[in-house]
Amino acid sequence: MVPPLDAVAVLKLLLFLAAVVGYNGEGTTVKVASCPLITGGKCPDPRVTFYLYTPLNPTLPEKIEYTEKSSNLLQLNFNTSLPTKIFTHGYNSGKFIFDHLRREYLERGDYNIILQDWADLVPSPCYFTAAHNTRFAGRCLAEMVRRVWATGATDVHLVGFSLGAHVPAFAANDLRPLRLPRITGLDPAMPLFVTSNLDEKLDASDALFVDVVHTNALAQGKVEQCGHIDFYMNGGITQPGCYGESGCNHHRSLAYFAESVRSEAGFWGWPCGGVMHYILGLCPPRGTPWKMGEDVDQRGQGFYVVRTNSAAPFARGPWQVAPTEFTRTGLRFLRSPWAPFRRR
Ligand SMILES: *[C@@H]1O[C@H](CO)[C@@H](O)[C@H](O)[C@H]1NC(C)=O
Repeated sequence: MVPPLDAVAVLKLLLFLAAVVGYNGEGTTVKVASCPLITGGKCPDPRVTFYLYTPLNPTLPEKIEYTEKSSNLLQLNFNTSLPTKIFTHGYNSGKFIFDHLRREYLERGDYNIILQDWADLVPSPCYFTAAHNTRFAGRCLAEMVRRVWATGATDVHLVGFSLGAHVPAFAANDLRPLRLPRITGLDPAMPLFVTSNLDEKLDASDALFVDVVHTNALAQGKVEQCGHIDFYMNGGITQPGCYGESGCNHHRSLAYFAESVRSEAGFWGWPCGGVMHYILGLCPPRGTPWKMGEDVDQRGQGFYVVRTNSAAPFARGPWQVAPTEFTRTGLRFLRSPWAPFRRR
């Protein structure tokens, strides 16, 4: 077992290195071996930008300009009577990662879709600094939420993928005592977020409703529950059709959620005691089928398991109890991830 990295120690080391490398006086950005590390600073910042898509401009984004006091939202196609969705990408990524999700929403209906782009702060191989920069990205996101609220639009839903799933959590800290209506975390990143401090990661206190989709727990994603309701897709660790490839497992959270926006069949889960219960085959489908995704039933709480197909369309519709499901779930799972460790 690799012991969890002590995030604080790592950051102290980085800050020390940064100080050695040079601190640029009035600014608050330092470079650690060409990795951008933001240790303070104000939003707006040219490295954290926001783009708007609406039914009037579904494919070509409008750039949102904002200050601490105002924004150009009302000069753009922003429509205050529509629900607003704000998406935040993760490490070594960019806003392009949400092309599919954005299209699904605008095909479904009328929304203001805002994409947060902080690609300049999360370049590879700078995971340590990227993880630290979530705070700053969160501060800018909070500023954007305030500007959206200032237009009179209140229905704001933040969606973060991977490392980006923690950005809304930092935004929520900044917005206190105001509460966000909803945050969705798509396979929230695990590395450096193994901490007991709830203020430094996504958790249920960050919004009135927090739903989380786990697809690569223990590898790129977190294993512990971090919302009001947590969906462990196919048990949450590996995904069918991914053949153990971590990136594939991780990105499935986004694929499932995007499909849920317009899926007729829908993704339906059932409650389960936890990952170990699932692994041991102790989670037969039971109770009332519970919907995952955009239309999640917000009265739900706790740990849920959802089974999917191995290729798109992934949604299987409401499950039906079959006596054989019980053992198959456990055995299927046991066979795949441990297979490499088995003797031939
Ligand atoms: C804003 O959205 C509402 C509700 O969908 C719609 O009726 C209205 O026409 C929209 N306004 C503009 C300027 O597009």
